[in-house]
Amino acid sequence: MKKIGIGIMGLGVVGGGTYEIIRANREAIIASDGIAIEVKKVLELKAERMDKLNVPAAARTANLDDLLNDGEISIVVETMGGIEPAKSFILRAFAAGKSVVTANKELLAKHWAELEKAAKKNGVGLYFEASCVGGVPIIRALDLSMQANVIQQITGIINGTTNYILTKMTEDGSDYAAALKEAQNLGYAEANPAADVDGWDAVYKLSILSSIAFNTCVPLDRIYREGITRISAEDIAYAKEMGYRIKLLAIGKLNGKKVEAHVHPCLVPEEHPLAGVRNSYNAVYLTGDHVDDLMFYGKGAGAHPTGSAIVSDIVYCAGQKKHRYAFFKNDGKLDKGIKFVDDFASKYYINVTVLDKAGCLAKVAGVLGRCGVSLEQVLQKDAKGKDKAVVVYMTHESGEKAIARAVGIIDKLDVVERINNIIRVI
Ligand code: HSE
Repeated sequence: MKKIGIGIMGLGVVGGGTYEIIRANREAIIASDGIAIEVKKVLELKAERMDKLNVPAAARTANLDDLLNDGEISIVVETMGGIEPAKSFILRAFAAGKSVVTANKELLAKHWAELEKAAKKNGVGLYFEASCVGGVPIIRALDLSMQANVIQQITGIINGTTNYILTKMTEDGSDYAAALKEAQNLGYAEANPAADVDGWDAVYKLSILSSIAFNTCVPLDRIYREGITRISAEDIAYAKEMGYRIKLLAIGKLNGKKVEAHVHPCLVPEEHPLAGVRNSYNAVYLTGDHVDDLMFYGKGAGAHPTGSAIVSDIVYCAGQKKHRYAFFKNDGKLDKGIKFVDDFASKYYINVTVLDKAGCLAKVAGVLGRCGVSLEQVLQKDAKGKDKAVVVYMTHESGEKAIARAVGIIDKLDVVERINNIIRVI
């Protein structure tokens, strides 16, 4: 049996979950992997968090040096989140010869190159399975089990909070704010929930996942982003009526040297496997040129699912003779020949309030036609105001630019009161 001393920086939701798993499954991990994980120090300023988990007095500290100077600690778990002080603490842990396991997707997506360089210089490891899709072992699968393939597409529900909110709005008719509050109480939401609902969290994860999957740099500023704050109860109801669920999707595609990456709400056909991914569950749907389609599914947020990925990284790190890096490329410089596509193609749902008079519906359809956007179906509903109607236009696949041109013209038509929403469709 090999003893591995660890230090935990941050005993919030994920750090606390990690601590509990190590305590609960210590013997099981020894039995399966021959590794005894000993939590030597926990760095946390809030005493009540330590009390709640009965952290022994000898392990408690509010001083990073206690953790860095402990010669029995070889792995440091960073579960503080955010950029600073997490980044400086990690760099100091590397300098002290300690490997790091982190769940910090924002930090990795923004500063991978610097962190990797420092880890390599010190000959220590940097592992981050918990940064994407909570308990689902997607990073290890991409790194170690997909070598036979060129991965062509990744489509994922990779934010638990937004999936929880959209599920509650769809199935229980919950109000957006109440559903967000529940997600916060359940420990899914980021400290600032705008990171979830505005799509940033999913952008960080897509940058990490698609960069690994496509083996090329996918910088944050090349990823199109739109959050869920404009999705209304009406959009959800109309989508349902047409056989769709609304989900926040993260999509990455590789076609030869062309890459596209985008995060936005999407209407997903009810029969698509991603439509059935509910609540805080996440899923990543991959297409490889030989393996064909694969779907990875599980809890994408929360103390124990995310803690599970951290503990798996601790065990994995402890078993490495020579650390592995460099499968994540995200230093901001594009690889030679790689082009990012911003005029990507989608089908669209366009929800418009028009005057309820002869010819109004056709005027909007006419603009779409003149801009080269072909229609798949049209749904007309009564609007709340008198003499008005809500019309939902579902288009065939069109480029972003053609849709933007058409919407610009439609918005100015005298028969159009308001464009209520525009949502992509897969
Ligand atoms: N806020 C994140 C989510 C936590 O909701 O998915 C897991 O990364």
